[in-house]
Amino acid sequence: MSGGVIAIDGPSASGKSSTARAVAETLGFAHLDSGSLYRGVTLVALREGARRGLRGAAAVADLSPEVILRSAEDRGLMLQSDGAGFAAYLEGEPAEDALRSADVTANVSAVAAIPVVREWVNTRLRAMVRAGQDVVVDGRDIGTVVFPDADLKIFLTASPEARAGRRISQRGIAVVPEHLDAETQALAARDHADSTREVAPLRAAPDAVHLDTTRMDFSEQVRFIVDRARPIFFPE
Ligand code: DC
Repeated sequence: MSGGVIAIDGPSASGKSSTARAVAETLGFAHLDSGSLYRGVTLVALREGARRGLRGAAAVADLSPEVILRSAEDRGLMLQSDGAGFAAYLEGEPAEDALRSADVTANVSAVAAIPVVREWVNTRLRAMVRAGQDVVVDGRDIGTVVFPDADLKIFLTASPEARAGRRISQRGIAVVPEHLDAETQALAARDHADSTREVAPLRAAPDAVHLDTTRMDFSEQVRFIVDRARPIFFPE
């Protein structure tokens, strides 16, 4: 028996992961952050590259996808249940902090554009749902490619400035204009790479509910999704 699926897609820093986790906690579902698997594969490529004397982008460009994915398996890249959802583990250790490093963030779009990497990630996501797990999955192509039959699809957006401001605040530093400009540009570059790639570009599914959170606070956006999910999963 397959589990239920709520798909949440949207651009970088639109608040998908934190929203998905809160929705999952409220409904008793598990949160699956597909981006953490792309980040995990990127971290593996950087570590495998470093072992071979390749640094940063050179590691991603020079290693074959097969070598990267074999290294991901050998190093035990996986999602393990952490109560409310799943967290990425690598080499037997929780990897969440390393997955958010600047080096991984700078290289993840290139790794996520490799078709066999996408298949590797999608196979893992689908296996969890096939095992009967009810999930809230966030990413870029969840409602279009990974789970086109998802029970509920949300496309989450916010203005580039709002997203940049939230990203800076998460790092615990003041939101000053030059940081805001630099972050807005970095996000725009990642959005462009993610929306224009050939395989599974960032796109809203035709049947997705659009939610612009620019002027919403966190609890409002969580409530918006939970209110749409309840009648689907828990009809009266
Ligand atoms: O959501 P995030 O910032 O952790 O995602 C990291 C990268 O992975 C981002 O560049 C887009 C990519 N990604 C993707 O291509 N497809 C997904 N389903 C999830 C993430």
